Amino acid sequence: MWHAVERAAEAARGRNIAALLQDPARAGAFSVRADGMLLDYSKTTLDDDARTALLDLAEGAGLVARRKAMFDGQPINETEGRAVLHTALRNLSGGPVPLDGHDIMPGIHATRARMAEFAEEVRAGFVTDVINIGIGGSHLGPEMAVRALAPYHDGPRCHFVSNVDGADIADTLAGLDPATTLVIVASKTFTTIETMTNAATARAWMQRAGVAPEPRFAAVSSATDKTADWGIDPARVFGFGDYVGGRYSLWGPIGLPLMIAIGPDRFEDFLAGAEAMDRHFQDAAPLDNMPVMLALVGIWHHQGCGHATRAVLPYDQRLVHLPAFLQQLEMESNGKRVTMAGETLTRPSGPVVWGAAGTGGQHAFYQLIHQGTAVVPCEFIVAATGHEPDLARHHRLLVANCLAQSEALMRGRSMDAAREMMRAEGYDGAELERQAAHRVFPGNRPSTTLIHDRLTPRRLGQILALYEHRVFVEGVILGINSFDQWGVELGKVLARDMEELLEGGDASAKDTSTRALLGYARGQG
Ligand code: F6P
Repeated sequence: MWHAVERAAEAARGRNIAALLQDPARAGAFSVRADGMLLDYSKTTLDDDARTALLDLAEGAGLVARRKAMFDGQPINETEGRAVLHTALRNLSGGPVPLDGHDIMPGIHATRARMAEFAEEVRAGFVTDVINIGIGGSHLGPEMAVRALAPYHDGPRCHFVSNVDGADIADTLAGLDPATTLVIVASKTFTTIETMTNAATARAWMQRAGVAPEPRFAAVSSATDKTADWGIDPARVFGFGDYVGGRYSLWGPIGLPLMIAIGPDRFEDFLAGAEAMDRHFQDAAPLDNMPVMLALVGIWHHQGCGHATRAVLPYDQRLVHLPAFLQQLEMESNGKRVTMAGETLTRPSGPVVWGAAGTGGQHAFYQLIHQGTAVVPCEFIVAATGHEPDLARHHRLLVANCLAQSEALMRGRSMDAAREMMRAEGYDGAELERQAAHRVFPGNRPSTTLIHDRLTPRRLGQILALYEHRVFVEGVILGINSFDQWGVELGKVLARDMEELLEGGDASAKDTSTRALLGYARGQG
């Protein structure tokens, strides 16, 4: 199967994307629609043969059975012996979801109802500011979604603290009133050192001001014994099962800040969008299936064509945190070096994912994307309409820039065109040649564009679920476990030890580089 993809990639070397688009049917044939969104992947080197090879690869990897196993609650997170059922958190209209012989839906509905009651209470009460203290999956999703849905906010202001760097919490607390602040401690395990350190600092801040922390603290955690030890009223603790991974947890209690910001009804619209994408992912034929096709384009670019990174470029300032969210989603899920069976991968795992909101990125790193030596497949995201009707020109410019970038990446500028330009500016001879060379754009650089109508709660839910399922499909094709994260453990363990050494412990067992750095940090340079 992989051989066919490799042969197709070999055949695609030097294939000209602009020439492919001479075929008037290509844009329609190499795009996919779902519930009003359009994913255009025609500006890639994929042709029919390559796409067929990729579809065969997905089929051969057992995608259909694996997808069913996920939705059915099989323990597909094999290294942790867990089911993967974040989709149950947004199963608004569906039936029961059995796990280990009992239906988990009543518990999920009950928790959501408790969250809604709490959110309404907070929105109607004394709270002016909410601080979510969490990290990784307990931070990136809520921060991204709260910012994304700013036009729908009608609750208290939301702030986010994640870094153990005291600067993060100090800057956040400055200017807030402890009496009117609600702190949500979001930690699935309730042991994460960054979160627990920040939570203790927030509690001390309230105590110093003579304000009782108890009515101002809530927790999102599965570890109710630990939240109780911490003194958080069980009525303000919202849990979720171990079948929901941190980076997939925004749909449940981890989404509490979002629910407080936009209200329970709109939060439900957000879930409904994700649920619609879940249905699409399960029902649509592979060629018409947006997550499947987005995944296959990803596999084509990284494992097929060897492009090491991919840029995600939302032309939407409110999606400014989306690249960071997708970094965790994609890289923590698919940055693995062994297969499910524990064998070394023979192909690259998931790519490096990076990006920034347009148009800012254009004035920063697009230079490299257009003229650097590495090819960076770009994934543009843009809404046809904004939320500021009186600023229509802004939005027109935004969309124009997005579309222009994908066109420019593809078209490039030839040496002849560059020479022509420089000649018009009065250059000739060797200097014309030299100047023209700098103005050449190689072009033929691939991109996809996801265009949709407007970033509503429902649309955001769909887009995030699209990316979740894309990661799933890529993981299935690579044969890896997308749902564990053993790679984050070692550093955590060593950091515990290192804290003691910073306080003056015996560092002689450390390597000479680490000893020198420790020495400097202890001020013994
Ligand atoms: O970075 C590792 C990780 O386990 C993530 O997967 C998770 O989202 C994050 O830490 C936070 O964990 P917790 O919610 O338990 O504090």
